[in-house]
Parts: sequence; C-alpha cells; structure tokens
Amino acid sequence: MKNLCLFLFSIIAFNYFSAKAQNDVKAYAFVDKLMSKMSLEDKVGQMTQISVEAFLKTDANGNVINPHELDTAKLAVAIRDYKVGSILNVGGDAQTQGNWQQLITQIQQMALSQPLKIPILYGIDAIHGNNYTSGSILFPQEIAMAASFNPLLAKEVAQISAYETRASFTPWVFSPVLDLGRQPLWPRIWETFGEDPLVVSTMGAAMIQGFQGNDVSDKYHVTACLKHYMGYSMPLSGHDRTPAWIPERELREYFLPSFTEAVKQGALTVMVCSGEINGVPVHINKHILTDILKGELQFKGFTCSDWQDIEYLYQRHHVAVDNKDAVRMAVNAGVDMSMVPTDYTFTKDLLALVKENKVPISRINDAVRRILYVKYKTGIFQSPTGNKNDYPLFASEEHEKINYNIASECITLLKNQNNILPLNKNKKILVTGASANTMRSLDGGWSRVWQGTTSDETEKDKNTILEALQQTFGNKNISYAKGVTFDSVINIDEAVAKANNSDVIVLCAGESSYTETPGNINDLTISEPQIELAKALAKTGKPIILVINEGRPRVISAIEPFTSAVLDAYYSGNQTANVISDILYGKINPSGKLPFTYPRYTNSLTNYYRKYTEDKDVNDEVAGYNPQWEFGTGLSYTTFKYSNLHLSSAKLDNTNPIKISVDVTNTGNREGKESVLLYVSDLVASITPEVKRLRGFQKIDLKSGETKTVTFNLSKDDISFINNDLKRVTEPGKFVAHIDNLNAEFDYRN
Ligand code: BGC
Repeated sequence: MKNLCLFLFSIIAFNYFSAKAQNDVKAYAFVDKLMSKMSLEDKVGQMTQISVEAFLKTDANGNVINPHELDTAKLAVAIRDYKVGSILNVGGDAQTQGNWQQLITQIQQMALSQPLKIPILYGIDAIHGNNYTSGSILFPQEIAMAASFNPLLAKEVAQISAYETRASFTPWVFSPVLDLGRQPLWPRIWETFGEDPLVVSTMGAAMIQGFQGNDVSDKYHVTACLKHYMGYSMPLSGHDRTPAWIPERELREYFLPSFTEAVKQGALTVMVCSGEINGVPVHINKHILTDILKGELQFKGFTCSDWQDIEYLYQRHHVAVDNKDAVRMAVNAGVDMSMVPTDYTFTKDLLALVKENKVPISRINDAVRRILYVKYKTGIFQSPTGNKNDYPLFASEEHEKINYNIASECITLLKNQNNILPLNKNKKILVTGASANTMRSLDGGWSRVWQGTTSDETEKDKNTILEALQQTFGNKNISYAKGVTFDSVINIDEAVAKANNSDVIVLCAGESSYTETPGNINDLTISEPQIELAKALAKTGKPIILVINEGRPRVISAIEPFTSAVLDAYYSGNQTANVISDILYGKINPSGKLPFTYPRYTNSLTNYYRKYTEDKDVNDEVAGYNPQWEFGTGLSYTTFKYSNLHLSSAKLDNTNPIKISVDVTNTGNREGKESVLLYVSDLVASITPEVKRLRGFQKIDLKSGETKTVTFNLSKDDISFINNDLKRVTEPGKFVAHIDNLNAEFDYRN
C-alpha cells in the first residue's frame, strides 16, 4: 500500500512539474520569438520603469488633478519614443477602482498600438491590501500578521489583496517585505514579519502562495515582488538607508533564508535593497544580485531597483562619478529594471553604454528575457486589463469580516494583572491618549498615501478606538480627553479630572503613521508627553489599561509598572479598534504573541536568539538580556497546560527526522487559540551557538478542557547553521528541544 501511494504521488508530482516545465518552454519560445524582433532601443525600454506621476495632468499651479487624468502626449513619449516597459505607483492620493481601470486601460491601449504590442507591467505598493485604491480593505500590517503565528491568515490576506488589486487591473504588487526585523529603531520594522528567520520565511512563503496562487496569470492573482533583497533592515544607526555591516555568514544565516524560500515558491520579481552592506551599495553588488540570487537560488524572474536607487549611486553613495557610471555598475551587477523614476536618463545612458561595449549585449538580453518571461507568466499578453464585472467582492462586507477575524488573531495581550481584563460592560471608562481617536495609529503607513497621513479623512467610516468603545460600552459609560498628542501636551489636568470620575482608564499610546526616512527616530523611548500623561493618570489610583498602537517596540519601561494590563495592537488595519474593543470586554479571546523581543532599555536591543555571552546570568548580570517582554509572549483569557513532551527517538540521524510531540490542554473555562512554539538549543558548535532558535510553530484552537497533541517533525536540516566556510552544516552533538517550560535532550550523529 505504501509503495502504491508513493508511486501515485510520484506520477502526480511528475505531471505537475512537467506541466510547469512545459509551460516554461512555451513561455521562453514566445519570449525568444518576440526578442528576435526587438531593437536595442526596444530592449532598453523594457528595462525602464517610470512613475505614473510623470504622465499625470496638472493644474495651473502644477498640482496633480484629482481624479487623475493621463496626459497622453507625455505617455506617448514614454511608450512610443522610449518604449518603456513598466509604470508604477499612484502619484498622489488613492484612486477609485473605476478610475484605475480607466487609467490602466488607456495605458495598455497605447502600449498595444505599438508595432511589437508589448503590454506595460504596472506595479503598485499593495502593502496591506490594495491600499492605493480607495475603499479597498486595509488589512493588518505584516508585523501584526506575524503575531498571529498563523501562515494561513497571511495567505488569505495576500489572496484577497491579489483579488482587490487585479480588480483595479493592476497585475503586480511590491510585496511582501521579507526583510528580517531585528533592528527595532528602523522605521520599517512594522513592514516586516519580525525578528525570527523561520517566522519571516514561513509567513513570506504563505504570502507568495496567496498572491500568485497556482497560476499567477489568472484574473484573481498577481505577481509578487520580494523586498528588499537583502540586508536593508539592519542599518547600524537604526536610520533608514544608512550602512549595514553584515558578514556573509550572518547574511546567509539570518537574512537570506526568507528570500530562498520565496524563490522556491516561485516568486517572480525581487526589489533590490536601497542600502549598503560592508561599504558596497547592494545595487552594485554582483555577488548578491547575480551569483547568489540568479546563480545559487536559480531565480528566474527579474530584479528591479528601488526608487531612484541607481541615481543615488552617484548622488548619495558616491561610488559612481555620474548617472552613466551608475547605470553601468548597476546593470552589470545584475539589476534588470530601473525604477528611474521620472525621466529617461537611465534609458539614454544604458543605450550609449551598450554601444560603447561597456555593458555587454548578453546582459541586456538576459535582463529583457527575464522581464518578458515575467510579463508572459503574469498573463498580461493574453489579458492586459480585465473585466470589471469579475470582482463583485471588492471591498465587500465579506472581505471586511475576514479582515476582522484576522486582526483578532494578531493583537497581543502582554499583561493582565489580577485578570482585570475582560472588563464588565457597565464600567465607567476614561479613554485618553494620543492614539485614542485617530485612524493613523491603526493603519500606519502605505494607507491611501505613502505616509498614511490622510487616514482620518479617508477611513472616517471606520472606527477609531474611542468610537469602537463608545459603541461597545455605550456613550454614557465613556468619557474622553485626549490629554496629549505624540509630541506635545494638550490638557493633562482634564484627563486626570475625568479619570477621577471613572472606574478604569484606557490609555492609548504609541506612534502615528510613518515609513522610510520620515520615520527615523533618535530615541526608542515612547515620547515624553505620553509618559507625562501616564504618570499623572497613575496618581489617580485608577487601574490603567495601556493600549499600544505602534510600528516598532517603543520603550515603555517608565510607564509599564503603573499599568494593570497592556495590549499591543501594532498597526492592525481598519478593524483594529473593533477588535481592541471586543478584546476589552471579552468577546474575543486574544491569541497574538510578540514577533519581536520587546526591549526594556534603549541601549539593550538584543534579539531572543542571543548568544550565551549576551545573557544575563552567564556573563553580564547588569546589562545582559533582560527585555520588557520576550519574543513569543502573549496571554489569553484562558490557560494552557503543556505536558508529555515526547521525542520519537533521542537520536537524530541523516535520514530520519524525529517527531517531537507535546500535549496542550486548555485548563481554563473558555475556548482559546494557542501558538505552540518549538525552540531548539545546540549546546556546542563551531560557531558560538544561540541560546535557542525557533524551529517550528503551529497554531491550534482548544475548547475548554480539551487536549490536543501537537507534533513537529525535526530533521537535521532544521537545526543546521552556516559555518565559517559559509556552508550549511549540522554538527554532531547534543541538542535540547524546548516547548513552553518542558525540555528534552537529543543527540545528532551523522
Ligand atoms: C520603497 C519601496 C517601494 C518603492 C515604490 C521605495 O521608496 O523603499 O518599498 O516599493 O518605493 O514605491
């Protein structure tokens, strides 16, 4: 029977892979035929990507007209004269679905009226939903999704985002971000899946499946773009686009695996990191772009520069003397498409460079073949736009309901002294704080506009925390005083007076919306006015429920001791407030867990996979690892008991994985979800081992009194690491598996 199953499985697998291979043969035959008709100008044009703002009509003051209208004369220069292959972005405010359909139809009509009839590949920053189409669903940002530890949710988010993006006739999204979020100061931490390489890889792979589906060319899927390959997330200063220093061993150990996994999943495009690593801007790093990505990982799609990053090689990085020099370096290193973004300097300089033999034609042919292959796979040769009637679920209640369910698994309860939560519905509540009545702190950046600054206007039909609490607890039970903004005091006395007349204080604090350089900070501590408000409220003696809305873990050690409960909501999208309110009164049982280490001090930013010498008890009693909350912390309104940690064998070899199982029992009196986290410690290794590393996770749902057995298969590769020769190895020796507070030792022998 076993043999028969194996045989059938092999036939199915063979057919699946050979169908894929045949499809590729067809794709390349089509592409090669097309390329045989292309001039050098046609090819260089395909490598050029221009922002739509370059073609939008403006008023007498030079402001873009809203709703957007295309200046067809300018568009013709791009498409007819420069043979541009790709257009991106929104050029201002979000547009309606109808307007997008019209703009993209117009663009494609012009492209298809050219002799070679090559459609434009239109790309958009669909970061948490199709955020540049008004009314679309705004989902939790990646950091919040990571807290769910549930890859099925990430897949669902990507599936719906793909649907809603194609509904605007856009076939390509600049998502997911697969950067490892381990530098908490970095202003894009919230765009990542957090600090753990396994979580980032697993959630990233799920998003690729959701975006691209089994056939990315169908009308409900989009081509994904992996960002920002690689090392972008680790600037030493914490400021965006400043130098990273990452030895290749660490690059391969921590930063590369998420990209490797996504390429295996068939991701078709990659955006290059804007930063520099070890003094070399990644846009000119042939080793990273060509040897590793296209060689080792066998990536078949194309690489795209990030915004203006080829120009920045001479304007900011000072590694090139001028634009032409920069283009030469980037294209020769392996950049296939330039996000220029608004002129034809790249196109002109690249043409000249090929003619002068400074960029070989083989490099151009390789880049263009990759770009056309992706266009073919995306299905835009067959269907360059779409059919408006195919998307009845765009921004539907059904999609919004799913959004609510997803956000319910993200928000994380970090503290609940004496089970103060859930609250009784008759409580008199003071709602206060800088994030209490604004959508900006719920949605974050990439919300209708780049910095998310317009959310209070564009999302006014959605609830802020104040509005959701008023609906849930009734207006008569809620009083409100803002108290402070993020950077100034308004009226703390008013908040204190109202607190004195309340039973409990819901203090909403954290950050507003931001991304990239405008989000740089000099101090990770939560802002001073917010600390002042918390301290004044604490003096009333009323219990404080701290709700944090933030994109990165702002240090709150000055106020945490005054709180009775803490809920971290990250940026969980348009349903954040409804979920917070339903958690506060107990309709939802929280199940999120921290996807990062929450620091207690601004100068101790060690990740959970610290080395022994960074630990508190081994070497450094004073300033060793002592976070506010550990990675993986997250409470529930029920209790879980772990027992019977069992290994199928105490010996792991090269061929047979061991099964690690544990029983989890819901010992409380209500249903709850629990993420079961398996860590492994390698006790002795040639590279100093980490104290522990996450090697598996599963989310389960348990009724009160129910027990489930959770099993992980652990192979030798799962506990491997990159050694000093840059090889992935598993060294023989002793290992310890940890789940909750249970441990079991095993040996690996090869
Ligand atoms: C960001 C990318 C984004 C691109 C296009 C850049 O500034 O780094 O993440 O996809 O702009 O908007």
